[in-house]
Amino acid sequence: VNHLLGIKYLNQGDIDLIFETADHFKEVINRPIKKVPSLRDITIANLFFENSTRTRLSFELAEKRLSADVINFSAASSSVKKGETLIDTVNNILSMKVDMVVMRHPNPGAGIFLSNHVKASIVNAGDGAHEHPTQALLDTYSIRERLGEVAGKNVVIVGDILHSRVALSNIFALKLQGANVKVCGPKTLLPKYIERLGVSVETDLRKALQWCDVANMLRVQNERMEISYFPSTREYTQQYGLNKEILDSLDKEIVVMHPGPINRGVEITSDIADSDQAIILDQVQNGVAVRMAVIYLLASKIKQ
Ligand code: CP
Repeated sequence: VNHLLGIKYLNQGDIDLIFETADHFKEVINRPIKKVPSLRDITIANLFFENSTRTRLSFELAEKRLSADVINFSAASSSVKKGETLIDTVNNILSMKVDMVVMRHPNPGAGIFLSNHVKASIVNAGDGAHEHPTQALLDTYSIRERLGEVAGKNVVIVGDILHSRVALSNIFALKLQGANVKVCGPKTLLPKYIERLGVSVETDLRKALQWCDVANMLRVQNERMEISYFPSTREYTQQYGLNKEILDSLDKEIVVMHPGPINRGVEITSDIADSDQAIILDQVQNGVAVRMAVIYLLASKIKQ
């Protein structure tokens, strides 16, 4: 397959290969000279139809560390604003001899749609509330780094599961790697199909935290809520916000994660987000090596 459209389309062997390759690139980017010449013959377009800080910069840096030629496109300042379609936009960019497209789009399935209509390797950098595969890869890579392995670990994903592409991709990635997965949040923010994905459900945060080795605290995705799903932000924080008092009440130390951007004081307090217990910036750092691995492996298929 010449695309990374979702974790759903990967198997455990694919993830093992991505992680082995990321281990190598992590070592490379810690050297004084952080670049390798591997992709001097590859051109990549980063297409962002939705806001991003971490994912956009991390992909761009990963591509540059691999010596690919990189062009960046932001829908907000493009001819999409004049009515140009997604396929026309991408085909015009591809006619400039572009090999690979990294795309973030607000519509679920946008990457799959594009892969059926254009001749390029597509990497999904987040499609609406559907999948964010490289986020799940860097998240599980970071768990493996901190705890030695993912298999057998208890991982709880907390918060706005309903609107979260990070949750869905993490569930697929964690299950593929043999973790036990629980979701925890208000019933209004849990999709009805969630238990069919092989995860358990807990609405009491303290019970979920007592069970877990790792808690991944999701951002409340206000921008995807057409109606108000929860009485108030204050109530959400009271019931599902992570703080020092709750962590101190557990009889063990758990690993705290967050995909970013953080609503400080809503899903997590600053003292916890900035503590050694949290691996939030490790996740971001690992994102570069993991994305280098994904791009390198896809590009090697283009070259064949
Ligand atoms: N985690 C994540 O996708 O962050 P950005 O929206 O800033 O890319």
